[in-house]
Amino acid sequence: MEKIKVIIYGCGVMGRRIGEALLDKKSFEIVGAVDINPELIGKELGGVIIEKDADELFSKVAKHAHAVVLTTTSRLKSVFPQITQCLKARLNVISTCEELSYPWKSNPELAEEIDSLAKEHKVTVVGTGINPGYLMDALPLMLTAPCLKVQSIKVVRMMNSAKRRIPFQAKVGTCLTREEFRNKIENKIITGHVGLLESINMIAKGLGWDLEEAVELPPEPVIGEKEIKTSVGTVKPGDVIGLKSLAYGRNGGKDVITLEFCANAGVDEEYDEIIIEGEPHIHQKITGGIHGDIGTVAVIINTIPKAVDAPAGLKVMKDLPPPAATL
Ligand SMILES: NC(=O)c1ccc[n+]([C@@H]2O[C@H](COP(=O)([O-])OP(=O)(O)OC[C@H]3O[C@@H](n4cnc5c(N)ncnc54)[C@H](OP(=O)(O)O)[C@@H]3O)[C@@H](O)[C@H]2O)c1
Repeated sequence: MEKIKVIIYGCGVMGRRIGEALLDKKSFEIVGAVDINPELIGKELGGVIIEKDADELFSKVAKHAHAVVLTTTSRLKSVFPQITQCLKARLNVISTCEELSYPWKSNPELAEEIDSLAKEHKVTVVGTGINPGYLMDALPLMLTAPCLKVQSIKVVRMMNSAKRRIPFQAKVGTCLTREEFRNKIENKIITGHVGLLESINMIAKGLGWDLEEAVELPPEPVIGEKEIKTSVGTVKPGDVIGLKSLAYGRNGGKDVITLEFCANAGVDEEYDEIIIEGEPHIHQKITGGIHGDIGTVAVIINTIPKAVDAPAGLKVMKDLPPPAATL
């Protein structure tokens, strides 16, 4: 069996964890790694040294590499130059960029450009991860397979953010005061969760629903009642321990898709819940929830072979065969 040769582009927390997990798998080999952070350049990752210049790295290894795992940022505009760089080097791209998970509504021009460049160079691009990419979009869609009719879908993700990586805890506002939270969200210094609208649009497209509107409300801070120790610091009572985000897809004046994302350091019972009203009704609850960082590492790795084998172009998770655990 030929190993799939992978380059890691963005060696922060996710890139490094994906690199470490790839080392344990016999289906893959890491052939390069690149990052702009001076603290990471020159360090080892998965048997290679992290380099600083992607073009230079691609000129050496792209000929015998198959795919790039792109784990840099959440916004499509900022990853767009990195994606085009990979495509021009004829490399498939599997990325954690949330806005890439369904860019056809929010960034249609960039989506079009990526799609045509990927087709020109005969490679595939997909944005995925635990969420968006799986738990609140691809999985609920898959769960509608035994339904004759679907009236509505509700998904709730309830997680304890203190168990997640530090960049995640920071982006949900852990340790901030209420005022700092509002200020940082308004000024886009922290993002909160990115991807609810992408998930709604993927579900709607998958079900052939033409939504009247898809709305995401501004994230609401969750305030701690007692002191909580987290890996980003000790949160005082009255300060922010995380957030709650809500988004709706509406048709005929009804909320036909509801996504509720709750991540805070005070959650005792973690779960992922999907409720499909239809024929038949389906109610799935994953007790304990799926750990977002482990889940993202796995979804990215397990999607690599599907993306490498897929027809060329920009794909979203509903377009690929469902990924399964790889060896
Ligand atoms: N879809 C999902 O389910 C999912 C799950 C997990 C994470 N994510 C997303 O995945 C991304 C990565 O997460 P993370 O926690 O690993 O973040 P992180 O720790 O901040 O890592 C990102 C790394 O990429 C580097 N980088 C940024 N721009 C670059 C560029 N142009 N060229 C090369 N390297 C660049 C950063 O360097 P600097 O530090 O110098 O900027 C940093 O080392 C985030 O946007 C996160 O929201 C999505």
